[in-house]
Amino acid sequence: SKVEKKFPEGFLWGGAVAANQVEGAYLEGGKGLSTADVLPHGIMSPFDDSMENYYPYHTGIDFYHRYKEDVALFAEMGFNCFRTSVAWTRIFPNGDELEPNEEGLQYYDDLFDELLKRNIQPVVTISHYEMPLGLVKNYGGWKNRKLIEFYERYAKVLFERYKDKVKYWMTFNEINVVLHAPFTGGGLVFAEGENKKNTMYQAAHHQFVASALAVKACHEIIPDAKIGCMLSYLPTYALTSKPEDVWEALELDREAVFFTDIQVRGYYPSYTKRYFAENDIHIEMEDSDADILHNYKVDYLGFSYYMSRTATATPEEAGTTNANMIMGGVKNPHLKASEWGWEIDPKGLRFALNTLYDRYQVPLFIVENGFGAIDVLEEGDIVNDDYRIDYLRDHMKEMKEAIADGVDLIGYTSWGPIDLVSASTAEMKKRYGFIYVDKDNEGNGTLRRIKKKSFHWYKDVIATNGENL
Ligand code: BG6
Repeated sequence: SKVEKKFPEGFLWGGAVAANQVEGAYLEGGKGLSTADVLPHGIMSPFDDSMENYYPYHTGIDFYHRYKEDVALFAEMGFNCFRTSVAWTRIFPNGDELEPNEEGLQYYDDLFDELLKRNIQPVVTISHYEMPLGLVKNYGGWKNRKLIEFYERYAKVLFERYKDKVKYWMTFNEINVVLHAPFTGGGLVFAEGENKKNTMYQAAHHQFVASALAVKACHEIIPDAKIGCMLSYLPTYALTSKPEDVWEALELDREAVFFTDIQVRGYYPSYTKRYFAENDIHIEMEDSDADILHNYKVDYLGFSYYMSRTATATPEEAGTTNANMIMGGVKNPHLKASEWGWEIDPKGLRFALNTLYDRYQVPLFIVENGFGAIDVLEEGDIVNDDYRIDYLRDHMKEMKEAIADGVDLIGYTSWGPIDLVSASTAEMKKRYGFIYVDKDNEGNGTLRRIKKKSFHWYKDVIATNGENL
């Protein structure tokens, strides 16, 4: 072919996890309670702080104690980067303390040292689907402007402490999730009759300002670091070529890119005015906010890609809705889906990469992608996860295409390189890993780590910089 298709040299290959889905040890080392600690059934179910249930995040996969063994396995696969998050509550247990918790800081020092020792760059999310429960109970979460100050203090502590160890940062995981899981995304609990949309966008505004202030601090404290945003991106298709469907798809897509429009371009997009007016959204802003957003834009755009979504102006005619109810949309008749209804669409990743790059012209980083499936542990410690290999290979092929299209893609971290607790449902059964963890939905198991077939496959992908897919 006339077109060379290959990954650039120095491409970042690795995996991604979040503190609350792997660490466990939810009360150790001076840690405070987080929003994740009161979600026994995951982020899409109501919170329950009775503590009378089984709470899978409380124990995770015990990464807190076993990270050395796990990092060794990542190194064996050849990872040159590893994305994780800092649990805010290990550093500021209630969120509003003035001084950080030394034991929590030390834990991440040890983890980052362990990674660096094995030539794995830490890629760190400052807040991934959790925040101190104290900030929810005492301040109402992100609807309160005070949160900006707490977050900024927390972020600065991290930059100062880890400035020699961490060069890739992200401010908020899937920042747009505040619209879909507001308790997890924004620490929001609504009163009856409250205009929820207004509150969600107000919370998002505070996060935008907090994120921009973190960008500022990061650049000042670690001049050679890169700091990005993180969007959950499901590129939107129109169900048919009916102009009404095409328009609907554009509007649904804006629901997501609204967030990156602000974090990457630095200002509220022009379509916001009408949307806010029609939905009775009135955001309180301070005079200096516009300058802050404008002056401290992110360096790169990190995003998760699991699937696309499909829009129609007449959902009642479409019949079936998409089984993945998190982000909305209807079923795409051309796609197959996972057991959780997540539609499998490798080409959608090429589409997403091109769309985002055309729109923003900043480096892109796929910081999550993967296939949640039920694995069978066979006799002799064998897991034949060919379906996972197929999913990942097909997506990587489309990444190569996108790079050939001219997209500046800097890295790829697959979601859950080691099995972990699911975010949407808090199940263990929904596995993403190259490494199997012996634990079930009820919490039984030895926590033993077992290499799956995909472990060897991914190792070869990385060793050949994506030549062998
Ligand atoms: C992303 C989140 O939305 O998807 C992760 O950033 C999450 O935290 C991942 O785990 C996969 O979702 P789930 O529900 O299958 O765990």
